[in-house]
Amino acid sequence: MHRDLLNISYSEETISACVRGLGQRLAAEYADKNPIFLGILKGSFVFMSDLIRACDFPLEVRFLTASSYGSSTVTSGNVSVSGAPGTEIAGRHVIIVEDILDTGTTLAKIRDMLSAQNPASLKICAFLDKAECRRADISADYVGFTCPAAFFVGYGLDYAERYRNLPYVGVLKPEVYE
Ligand code: PRP
Repeated sequence: MHRDLLNISYSEETISACVRGLGQRLAAEYADKNPIFLGILKGSFVFMSDLIRACDFPLEVRFLTASSYGSSTVTSGNVSVSGAPGTEIAGRHVIIVEDILDTGTTLAKIRDMLSAQNPASLKICAFLDKAECRRADISADYVGFTCPAAFFVGYGLDYAERYRNLPYVGVLKPEVYE
């Protein structure tokens, strides 16, 4: 385990089984719909790469970039978004793929932007759902793990751009960011 972590909350094996299960659930809904998996960079790229390999049906992958935390452990509330798709998602089934749904500020903004492009359907697949921290009126349709209000890193999740490469998820020691 990395020395900056308090624990390993979700091990590689636990994550792998979870993502396989999500792939099966998505197959039941999307096997004949050629959906667009739309990842929110940067945090989602590790989850996205595992998730699509757990999905044995035709699909497309796109990304947009959103950021609001910077080098802080709390959201700035100002979400900057770039690379969002336009009219090319009209009439398509879209699944937003996110590493973590926390206050919901980021996804609420992205959901509203994408809804305006009239997709056939728009759902959210979040690896972690920090449900007790929600402030925006938004929920995920597919959730890997519902997690408590701790600061998690690893498996794409960062603190000040570090720890994204850890193959497991753990809680960062407070002394690292205090
Ligand atoms: C993180 C994460 C989500 C968002 C969730 O992104 O990837 O996009 O915060 O928090 P919220 O529900 O409170 O909005 P961050 O701004 O840290 O950028 P990153 O993905 O590049 O790490």
